[in-house]
Amino acid sequence: SPPVDAKWLGTPIEELKRMPQCSLPLPPLKVADSHTIMIRTDLLREGDVPVPYPTKFKDAWDELNVKMPCSDKSLFPLDGEDGGGVQSRWELIQKALRTEFKSVYGVKSAILKYNTAHSKKWDFSAMNILCTKVLDPHSVQHLFAAVLPKMAELALSADKLCTKPIPLLKQKMNHSITMSQQQIACLLANAFFSTFPRRNSRKLEYANYPDINLFRLFEGSSPKKVEKLKTLFCYFRRVTEKAPTGLVTFTRQCVTRFPDWESSAKPLTKLHITCEGTIENEGYGMLQVDFANRMVGGGVTGNGLVQEEIRFMINPELIVSRLFTEALDNNECLIITGTEQYSKYTGYAESYKWAGSHRDETPRDEWQRRCTEIVAIDALRFRSFYDQFQPEKITRELKKAYCGFVRPGVKSENLPAVATGNWGCGAFGGDSRLKALLQILVASEVGRDVAYFTFGDVDLMRDVHKMHSFLTQKNVTIGKACPLGFRFIFQRCLFCFIFLSVFHILYFILFALVRILFTFFFFFFFFLL
Ligand code: AR6
Repeated sequence: SPPVDAKWLGTPIEELKRMPQCSLPLPPLKVADSHTIMIRTDLLREGDVPVPYPTKFKDAWDELNVKMPCSDKSLFPLDGEDGGGVQSRWELIQKALRTEFKSVYGVKSAILKYNTAHSKKWDFSAMNILCTKVLDPHSVQHLFAAVLPKMAELALSADKLCTKPIPLLKQKMNHSITMSQQQIACLLANAFFSTFPRRNSRKLEYANYPDINLFRLFEGSSPKKVEKLKTLFCYFRRVTEKAPTGLVTFTRQCVTRFPDWESSAKPLTKLHITCEGTIENEGYGMLQVDFANRMVGGGVTGNGLVQEEIRFMINPELIVSRLFTEALDNNECLIITGTEQYSKYTGYAESYKWAGSHRDETPRDEWQRRCTEIVAIDALRFRSFYDQFQPEKITRELKKAYCGFVRPGVKSENLPAVATGNWGCGAFGGDSRLKALLQILVASEVGRDVAYFTFGDVDLMRDVHKMHSFLTQKNVTIGKACPLGFRFIFQRCLFCFIFLSVFHILYFILFALVRILFTFFFFFFFFLL
């Protein structure tokens, strides 16, 4: 048995594959039906800010693309005495954001000039607390004199930087969007000033999309909001001081063919399991799992501050995915390649604290993207503990993880390991032993090793390692590991197993009774006629 004070078990982490070492050279970056590229690929050079494509802003005010704040079609009611008429909302935004901000009140009144319908409801207390009680006077002065004006300028350059229509990544689509980090910064500056039209309530056409306008970040007095604002301002300070030079790709992957788990003859892959470290730090270069919400980013623009929201805060370029990603369906995931980490943090949820600026040294690939691949997969939320052991729920979670881990057309030797942990086991109430087994099975099916971070849980580390060693020592296949592994978990959860068995027996008795009754009535009526 392993030493009592072991901090990790299984395969040493150095033996697991990481990008860029394991990946094949990328093909040239080219536009395709399933790939929208928002920059001039022919001018892409390491260290240079990418050039937007096309040169002039092309508007697409329709159901297929993001409605941009700088569109001519974005109109705003005139508040003249006669009550009628409309004006260009973009002109209003330009006028509002070009005024000098002297205080939080100035920022608030600018934002409300083009969001008048919300003037009574929107509250800027968190922003006020940050600027009056938390930041030192020098930082506040810098925020109003340098950071915010540059952010406004960046937001207002949307028609120069984001010139190509951004397609909505709708359900059932397999599509990628590649844009520059500078274009993302511009879109996020617009999100900060809440300029995106039709995105202030989720009642109408964007009902199935996450919120993107960031007005909810400013409200309330919770210390979490203040720390979130500090984290975001660190990002905006960095990107407005020096424009970032890389690209980021967002891919919606919809999978329609799934393996037959029970007949799979593949062996289990390697497992490194540790109670120390995090997915984002020690899992660098691996496929890093985002414990997502079906609305990617979850509560990042509001109160949420657990694994997904923290990741979106420290790598804010992830937030832009909310602009165009429709709610994920059961057979879908979102893969984001190339985002950069701008902040460090300590704590978690209520104890989260921004811990300063972070210099991301992750190497870039040939498309000038950081070799950081994050996959958003949303687990099911369980209110009752037993629900998750129902076969259809297990199948759903297997399929969801499969969508996230599979890369059609790429050989397994070129795929980095999966860096994951207690997916679905915090806010979503899942069982970590069951989820660990499911993720290990799926990663094995697609030929990827697993680095599992238990987030401090030593017992979980030992149990999952024991289960994995038991299955691998017996050389069992995935098909056989399914029932064996579940038995392993059920032993720890005997009550649950008995409950389910009784449930199933009752179900079958009931089913048999209904059949007998049906046959009886059928013959009765047949002979009667
Ligand atoms: N590295 C490794 N493990 C972690 C890390 C990390 N950086 N952070 C947390 N954990 P949770 P869920 C562990 O609750 O249950 C969000 O609002 C830790 O043990 O974020 O899938 C989303 O938007 C934690 O308890 O994931 C969804 O709405 C566990 O991972 C919802 O929460 C689960 O983290 C998803 O909830």
